[in-house]
Amino acid sequence: MRVLVAGGAGYIGSHTAKRLVETGHEVVIFDDLSRGHREAVEIVGAPLVEASLADRERLVTTLRERRIETVMHFAAYAYVGESTESPLLYYDNNVATTIRVLRAMQEAGVSRFVFSSTCATYGDPETVPITENALQRPVSPYGRSKLMVEQVLRDTAAASPEFSFAALRYFNACGCAQDGSLGEHHDPEPHLIPSVLLAILGRRPELVVFGTDYPTPDGTNVRDYIHVDDLAEAHVLAMEKLAPGTQIFCNLGTGRGFSVREILAAAERVTGKKVPVRYGERRAGDAIALYADPSLAKEVLGWEAKLRDPDEIIATAWRWILAHPKGYER
Ligand SMILES: NC(=O)c1ccc[n+]([C@@H]2O[C@H](COP(=O)([O-])OP(=O)(O)OC[C@H]3O[C@@H](n4cnc5c(N)ncnc54)[C@H](O)[C@@H]3O)[C@@H](O)[C@H]2O)c1
Repeated sequence: MRVLVAGGAGYIGSHTAKRLVETGHEVVIFDDLSRGHREAVEIVGAPLVEASLADRERLVTTLRERRIETVMHFAAYAYVGESTESPLLYYDNNVATTIRVLRAMQEAGVSRFVFSSTCATYGDPETVPITENALQRPVSPYGRSKLMVEQVLRDTAAASPEFSFAALRYFNACGCAQDGSLGEHHDPEPHLIPSVLLAILGRRPELVVFGTDYPTPDGTNVRDYIHVDDLAEAHVLAMEKLAPGTQIFCNLGTGRGFSVREILAAAERVTGKKVPVRYGERRAGDAIALYADPSLAKEVLGWEAKLRDPDEIIATAWRWILAHPKGYER
């Protein structure tokens, strides 16, 4: 399959592009490098079209010239806090740009689409584990932008019988390539596991835990930590399921929830070092507990997470951070 990986210079996109190349697919990465890394693309070894997806002409030309059959769309802004401060930035890049991508696909005759959705579309659910038919009531512009795209996809599919898509709702993506080749480098880094490791290394002053009075066993938030290599594998499997007219909405998680304190303890076991921690107040918009019921992914994609132990997952991130003290910067 000839696959355009939009956002393939980013964290999850680069790991997936690598997996696609390894499984014999032809990959073109389309990324404006606004939040991604040229070095990651070089490691993947796929050609890069350095442009914004908002550049419809460039996109249509690329889809046609490369005879693309599937678009995997990772490109988005993905910081909940930033989305609250700059909602228009999020609706523009995550919703309007995605619509441009879908229109470019129509123009170029490409009808298979794999979309990065998120557990943030569920908001703060009343019960866990979360199944795909749980109510979707996102609590941030980021979550709402992703839910809007899900709706756009449903409507697009209803109007065009050839169109097929998978909207994959990831839980907390984490870890780095198990072979040590690719990693996670965001600036600022919003995710718990790399933030903990950077605090251990003294590259940020401390790790702030937001809230210790949640109704969870130890008072801290509970999340489902899904390894990025497992996510990559799920994308390849989802793509293979996209016969004309197929619509897939699927959670991608391990099905297990771990609290912030449990992750801190796991990081201390893996690194043999203490995490410098400050316990702070709750942060607005943080759900109490989010973890997936992953049974539909097993049924529909034949996929389940292989890395389920936080120690194992954190070890992959620790190895990469130690080997790349400045991330992708040389
Ligand atoms: N990281 C997570 O835990 C998580 C969880 C759920 C869903 N997601 C979703 O997965 C996707 C990938 O997340 P990530 O953590 O890899 O993000 P990332 O920021 O590392 O990667 C996104 C990439 O898209 C590129 N990009 C953004 N806007 C673009 C545009 N208009 N044109 C061209 N390129 C553009 C950036 O340069 C970057 O390389 C996002 O859509 C995100 O919302 C992530």
